[in-house]
Amino acid sequence: MIFADKIKTMKTNFYVRRGHSILDSREAYKLWSQFYDSENDNLVLHSDSIILKKLLAMANLNGKTILDYGSGTGRNWNELLGHHPSRIIGCDKSPEMLNELKIKYPAAETYLVGNNKLDFLKNKQCDTIISTLVVSHIQDIKKIIYEWNRVLKDSCDVIITDLHPILFRKGGARTFNHIGSTYKIENFIHDVWRIVDLFSFLGFWKVNLIEEFIDEDVKPFYVKKDALNVYEKFKGLPFIYGLHLSRMYADKKY
Ligand SMILES: C[S@@+](CC[C@H](N)C(=O)[O-])C[C@H]1O[C@@H](n2cnc3c(N)ncnc32)[C@H](O)[C@@H]1O
Repeated sequence: MIFADKIKTMKTNFYVRRGHSILDSREAYKLWSQFYDSENDNLVLHSDSIILKKLLAMANLNGKTILDYGSGTGRNWNELLGHHPSRIIGCDKSPEMLNELKIKYPAAETYLVGNNKLDFLKNKQCDTIISTLVVSHIQDIKKIIYEWNRVLKDSCDVIITDLHPILFRKGGARTFNHIGSTYKIENFIHDVWRIVDLFSFLGFWKVNLIEEFIDEDVKPFYVKKDALNVYEKFKGLPFIYGLHLSRMYADKKY
């Protein structure tokens, strides 16, 4: 770690201890990237994998071009590769997360994105966009949906998972631990109905919506982390969702 980074981390730790630091996603994933893939007993990552598997079972990825938007470390790539796509493109705002992906998949096609633009893709190049646990990091959701729409073919699928906006509205947060400190990551709340609405306007319909709730089934995760107070506070609320949207043009040749 270079000196300037060390100072920044020390400053951040200080603010976290003072209880008023929220990291923006760029800073957060710079730190979290080193530990992200070895997170054990992380309820969100655990549930996300199950939801994604269920959603993918209804989407045909065979021979398709997939854009994994906010691919991070490529946590889902084994699952995606199991569906035999012809091409997977990863992109992310964090070079550190992409580095981790490259360690696991050295030949991967990846791009760094910064301004919600996909300049490396021409119009109508992708069959499917998958974006897991990313949407609430994006401030201007309409802008990114329209950019996704630009690179999607007429007949296409979009699969999104994320922490549930209702949890955020009730005071929930996205957090991670790093060297003894708990960090919160900045989030923007996008209601599921609004996301569906924006896609409907572009000709998509909702194929599937899965929501998981904080209930007895997930209590062991809280027990393990000695966080029963958090469990009691949020019990009954949805904490994660998965959404599959699809658009199909009648002139598609099968
Ligand atoms: C919780 S991680 C999810 C990574 C991966 N999709 C997964 O499910 O493990 C969120 C990722 O979104 C990326 N990210 C945040 N804002 C972004 C943006 N505006 N454009 C692209 N990626 C972004 C972060 O750098 C991070 O890698």
